[in-house]
Amino acid sequence: MRLLVCGGAGFIGSTFVRLRVGEQGDEVTVLDKLTYAGREENLREVADAPGFRFIRGAIEDPEAVAGAIESMGAHHPPEAIVNFAAETHVDRSIAEPDAFVKTHALGTHVLLEAARAAGLRYLQVSTDEVYGSIEQGSFTEDSPLRPSSPYSATKTGADLLVQSYFHTYDLPAVICRGSNNYGPYQYPEKLIPLMILNALHGDSLPVYGDGMQVRNWIHASDFARAIGHVLEHGVPGEVYNAGGPDECANVDVVERIIELTGAEESQIEYVADRPGHDRRYSLSSDKVRALGWEPRVRFEEGLQETVAWYRENAWWWEPIRSGDYREYYERQYGRALS
Ligand code: NAD
Ligand code: DAU
Repeated sequence: MRLLVCGGAGFIGSTFVRLRVGEQGDEVTVLDKLTYAGREENLREVADAPGFRFIRGAIEDPEAVAGAIESMGAHHPPEAIVNFAAETHVDRSIAEPDAFVKTHALGTHVLLEAARAAGLRYLQVSTDEVYGSIEQGSFTEDSPLRPSSPYSATKTGADLLVQSYFHTYDLPAVICRGSNNYGPYQYPEKLIPLMILNALHGDSLPVYGDGMQVRNWIHASDFARAIGHVLEHGVPGEVYNAGGPDECANVDVVERIIELTGAEESQIEYVADRPGHDRRYSLSSDKVRALGWEPRVRFEEGLQETVAWYRENAWWWEPIRSGDYREYYERQYGRALS
């Protein structure tokens, strides 16, 4: 396929691009603003592949988006836009929501207009957080939307805008909602890489509240494959959930990371809870499974592999951990990293 992948320099977007270019031989142009979370290094494995192109630009900039589509050639426009571009950290959305509104509302609108003008298919990458928290059972695609944070509320707004373009303009758009992703290349503000790197450095392991919040973990390669299935086989106008095979309470994730890294139990520090913290997420993935997808990576295996990747790839995280991330960490946690 020929794809314009927005936000392709981030964690899941780059996983998707590596798979599509490396395994499927797709022609891919990445458009990415390179915020603190986006890094060209994430794409170095495919940088020299035929048909791969990287363009730095924001999705809320209509000229940048039009330029990216044109860069693929007047006779070979992309078949689809796949939109990963987002501000993705819930804690940052609580502290500073502005960029979340801009990227999710305005950015998604600009991309939808570009897809409409050029007659392209559109896939919006979304999240289980649009459904809010569920104590028991799992959310289906028909569950009500009850987002809790500025992150999830603006992601919900973007999903609704995508659906409105299908209903109003017949834009062939689909939405794929994932549960909590983990794996290599994840920015260390998120639970699993934060705990792995802090464990390896002897820093404290900050668990929010009682640590009994539950997340439905999916390896990023499994979510990337689900997005590929939805892109190829999804029915326009439909939403597809892609949840991981296992769920786990946060404190149990941290305990397992302590075992895998050889860290000390005493490094765990219970800290103030996240405001509006969702207790549990769980997705039913029956609809995307009916398209032929199933997750391949169980959480225990994926976590071991992820710990090993962070141990072996200091070249990737050292510049982050010694850069602006330190200031973010101090603001968020009120203490310095070692
Ligand atoms: P990430 O923060 O690692 O990457 C986001 C990427 O988007 C970065 O490369 C960043 O530079 C780029 N970006 C941000 N704003 C942009 C803008 N205005 N214009 C162009 N590029 C911009 O995020 P991720 O974890 O890879 O998440 C990717 C997508 O998947 C997001 O839409 C997110 O909501 C969704 N999602 C994430 C998870 C998860 O657990 N991480 C789960 C489900 C869904
Ligand atoms: O569910 C999908 C969502 O998963 C995605 O849409 C988001 O982009 C992604 O960031 C993630 O959101 P969460 O808020 O669930 O992920 P996070 O890694 O921030 O936190 C996971 C859980 O761990 C959550 O219950 C909060 C807790 N936590 C997190 C951090 C960073 C801690 O206890 N301590 C921490 O320091």
